[in-house]
Amino acid sequence: MDIHIWRDLLDPYDLAVRELTTKFEHLRYEYRSRGLYCPIEQVTGRVKTISSILDKMQKKQIDLSDLEERMEDIAGVRIICQFVEDIPKVVHMIRERGDMEILLEKDYVNHMKESGYRSYHVIIRYEVQMMSGPKKIQAEIQIRTLGMNFWCTIEHSLQYKYKHNIPEHIREKLLKSADAIVLLDNEMSAVREEIMDAQNSMQHQANLTAEILNTIQNLYSLANKREISKIQEEFYEVYQSNDLEKLERFHRQLDIIAEGYRAQGIDFTSGDVT
Ligand code: GTP
Ligand code: MG
Repeated sequence: MDIHIWRDLLDPYDLAVRELTTKFEHLRYEYRSRGLYCPIEQVTGRVKTISSILDKMQKKQIDLSDLEERMEDIAGVRIICQFVEDIPKVVHMIRERGDMEILLEKDYVNHMKESGYRSYHVIIRYEVQMMSGPKKIQAEIQIRTLGMNFWCTIEHSLQYKYKHNIPEHIREKLLKSADAIVLLDNEMSAVREEIMDAQNSMQHQANLTAEILNTIQNLYSLANKREISKIQEEFYEVYQSNDLEKLERFHRQLDIIAEGYRAQGIDFTSGDVT
């Protein structure tokens, strides 16, 4: 098959990977901008390389004519979570969506593979709009924790180094470390509430700070300069006190001041509050 035909074949997969990663990243953005904990920590995606497709075709005896039907991971998206508990939440999100049809789920989180591999796989059917019209393709979404991802990355490099014939003593070490990852994930789950609380406060503080600075900036062009300078100085003081409640109070008070200007018919809310 010449290179142009490969490009035609892979183009929809490339679009799918870009759309899917954008969609999951946007979910993350929505959660964060509302100050909510997001079960998605990181999103990556890739289109399988031609050489890797050829290798797998050979290994699995796949004909070019049924490549798209039989190879479900030409488009691959990886969602990394902080906690094991986040994985079913992400799966639920995918199940609820109208734009992704689930074809198959593989639970290697609760059913570790012999190699020690753990991840939750969801195979979806997804429609992209091409120049030639709509096209439905398959994509594989791998959902795993940061810990599982650490293990997979190391193991993958070793598979590459030893050309899929990892020596026994290294295989044993990998299995031991896979067990250690299970323990690590469990330990993290035990302090999950505390970690989530801390992260929520950090995000809440960042959101409040951004909103306050945005309001101050908008007030600058409209209100009395001296008053604004005073407000800004006060803000730095409150910020440095590292007291979230004080920051919240300051945010509310500033809103009241801003409301006053709004009542005078001056609208300064058009700036981006991020
Ligand atoms: P392939 O493993 O892709 O040939 O297809 P399969 O039909 O056996 O599906 P499976 O669910 O076993 O694997 C799909 C994908 O999961 C692989 O392409 C890898 O990305 C990943 N995977 C599966 N097993 C392992 C493993 O032992 N180690 C690592 N690092 N990744 C794995
Ligand atoms: Mg496999």
